Amino acid sequence: MSNRATVWSVGSYVPRRKVTNKMLSQHLETSDEWIRARTGIRERRYAAADETAATLSTYAARAALHAAGVGAEKLDWVLVCTDTPEMWSPPTACFVQDALSASHASAIDLTGGCAGFLQTLQLAEGMAAAGARVLVVGTELLSRFVDPADRHTAVLFGDASAAFLLGSSAERQGLSLGRSLSQSDGSQADILTNPYGGVRHEITAEVAAAGAHHTLHMDGPKVFKHAVHRMSQAGEALLAESGLTSADLDWIVPHQANQRIIDAVTHQLGLDPSRVFSHVDRFANTGSASVALAVADMLHQQLIRPRQALLLVAFGAGFSWAARMLTADALAPVLFLDGDTV
Ligand code: UT7
Repeated sequence: MSNRATVWSVGSYVPRRKVTNKMLSQHLETSDEWIRARTGIRERRYAAADETAATLSTYAARAALHAAGVGAEKLDWVLVCTDTPEMWSPPTACFVQDALSASHASAIDLTGGCAGFLQTLQLAEGMAAAGARVLVVGTELLSRFVDPADRHTAVLFGDASAAFLLGSSAERQGLSLGRSLSQSDGSQADILTNPYGGVRHEITAEVAAAGAHHTLHMDGPKVFKHAVHRMSQAGEALLAESGLTSADLDWIVPHQANQRIIDAVTHQLGLDPSRVFSHVDRFANTGSASVALAVADMLHQQLIRPRQALLLVAFGAGFSWAARMLTADALAPVLFLDGDTV
């Protein structure tokens, strides 16, 4: 059999600071009941003032390398997928490459909204199958990019980072990358944006004074509708392409945006809810980190067994959506770093 791209190990990091619904309701016109009923979220993590996209990414990256017992000097690529980068330029990945002392690696960022990690995985797959060692990191510090006074967005997001170390199956077994798909529809771009700071909407003195220059804008109900439709469609299409049905799957790992979205996709695909992973109650929507963080948590909780088949599916700004099959040829070692306990 030809060499396949394989997830050799998984690492993740969630910051220490827990922000509960009750804490948010102290300064926002919202309530624990509303947030739980409409989203399933109970709490989320916020990075500390001295933590950045690069520091979170570095913790997750080190965790993945440590779990695999692979030195950073062995890396060929560091790919950081994020919508909340360290700065405009250079890429967050360069700061991570430096912090890791990944002396032979090339480093670059990719931005794909909440589907970005799976899109990036698709790009990395060919490199890994050809023998490169690729660290794919999904990181988001969305707490820094929501308006804390906007109840429509402030309750939904959290901060986290998660990393997959990819390499060839010829060198090591792990979670083997099966079929995948990804697609975008840029005609829907305006529904979920962080519009200021680029060349289309410059940050003028007026925009800065209004305080909206770096915050997320979203039509929640529209995103909800598209997310359910596209994630269900992507899941069905990938199963059909793979000659599988939902009965062949051991786990579905959806983007962790909202429990109601997850439940609707579960219903649409006719899935057994006990096979659909969710930890949105604890970590909320962590954007580019979301799906990888979910896999890290599942491995950490020993929910995944050898030879099990997983379907990962995600949707986000763009709009973009993506799906990916993973098979546990062997269990990838994991290091799930929780700032609350380390
Ligand atoms: O990765 C993709 C990123 N985005 C998402 O995943 C978001 C997808 N969308 C959603 O998850 C949901 O649309 C929300 C959770 C954002 C909103 O839930 P909804 O059931 O679609 O509520 P809604 O926006 O239709 O609002 C219903 C009511 C409104 O009040 P009125 O106009 O009926 O009086 C809102 O103003 O709920 C109000 N509302 C809130 N009330 C308390 C909106 N946000 C809140 C809040 N607390 N945090």
